[in-house]
Amino acid sequence: MWFTFVLLQLLPQLTLSAHCPNGCVCDIRGSAKCIGDITDIPPLDPTTTFLLLLNNTNIKVLKDRSFQPFSLLIRLMITHSTLDNIQPEAFHGAPQLRSIKLSSNALSVLPPKILFHNLRQLKSLVLSSNQLETLESGSFDHLSNLLVLMLQKNQIREIPPRLFWHLPSLLTLSMSANQLRFIPSESFYYLPNLTKLTLYKNPLISLPYQLMGHMPRLQELYLYETNLSTLPWNLFANMTNLRALNLYFNNKLTSLPKSLFCCLPNLKKLVLKDLSLSGNKWNCDLLYNHKTDMNTHPWWLLAKCKTK
Ligand SMILES: *[C@@H]1O[C@H](CO)[C@@H](O)[C@H](O)[C@H]1NC(C)=O
Ligand SMILES: *[C@@H]1O[C@H](CO)[C@@H](O)[C@H](O)[C@H]1NC(C)=O
Ligand SMILES: *[C@@H]1O[C@H](CO)[C@@H](O)[C@H](O)[C@H]1NC(C)=O
Ligand SMILES: *[C@@H]1O[C@H](CO)[C@@H](O)[C@H](O)[C@H]1NC(C)=O
Repeated sequence: MWFTFVLLQLLPQLTLSAHCPNGCVCDIRGSAKCIGDITDIPPLDPTTTFLLLLNNTNIKVLKDRSFQPFSLLIRLMITHSTLDNIQPEAFHGAPQLRSIKLSSNALSVLPPKILFHNLRQLKSLVLSSNQLETLESGSFDHLSNLLVLMLQKNQIREIPPRLFWHLPSLLTLSMSANQLRFIPSESFYYLPNLTKLTLYKNPLISLPYQLMGHMPRLQELYLYETNLSTLPWNLFANMTNLRALNLYFNNKLTSLPKSLFCCLPNLKKLVLKDLSLSGNKWNCDLLYNHKTDMNTHPWWLLAKCKTK
């Protein structure tokens, strides 16, 4: 009797530890964190695991249908590991995934576009700090609920046209610290809910005249540390809600079109440090605390930040 009682008390813990492999810490609600010499998805309890973090592991390959048994898994993170190969159907059989983070790995290519095709619930996809050089056309075409796409700190040299055209819900897109010299026309069309776009630290040489679609919600745009020598006059024409614009350290920027800042009634912060425009050094960090009519006064305002 007493023995049975003890056994019953111990049973949940026994089964729990039976499903918590070496190198992992599992909590009773179903999150599992694993580190160390792990080379494959650990045999965790598929009936409870909703969050899986593999950090600092030796995993190299994500095999086809790796997550099929985990019908409750919604957050997956494989970070600071040696991952360099994802098989094309790695995420097939796990359409419930909401968040995938594969940052700080050794990925240089993503397999053809079927990789993310079934992930219609996905809200966040983080692929930053890898070695990606290209992205295949259609890669993100089925992620209609995606809110966050992080591609910064890779080696991306070019992107195919229309790469981001099927992401109507996107709020944040990060492409900074890559190797982009050009961006195809109309790349940022059909992103009506975008609020933050980062393009800084790319060796950009020029931008096309039709780049930004209607983005009524865009608030922050980061375009510093590029090799741009000028900007299309209508670059900011479609983003009337822009609050912060960062253009500093664009050493090659020598002229700005007159009507560039025409249509930004809500701009609160404009950073133009270390620019040499029309033979003058510009150094300013303008903070507007009231609505400024950039349409009628832009050059008068900017004159304040000229230093010879
Ligand atoms: C993962 O490992 C990295 C590098 O060792 C460490 O900096 C980071 O804090 C870890 N992240 C988590 C969520 O444990
Ligand atoms: C854009 O954002 C609004 C307000 O948050 C939301 O109602 C709408 O559904 C979003 N549009 C898409 C396509 O996600
Ligand atoms: C600009 O181009 C030069 C080479 O032409 C390169 O060394 C430099 O890193 C580029 N700047 C940026 C910010 O990428
Ligand atoms: C603004 O966006 C619309 C599409 O939403 C596009 O037709 C128009 O050309 C864009 N304007 C500029 C200056 O890019």
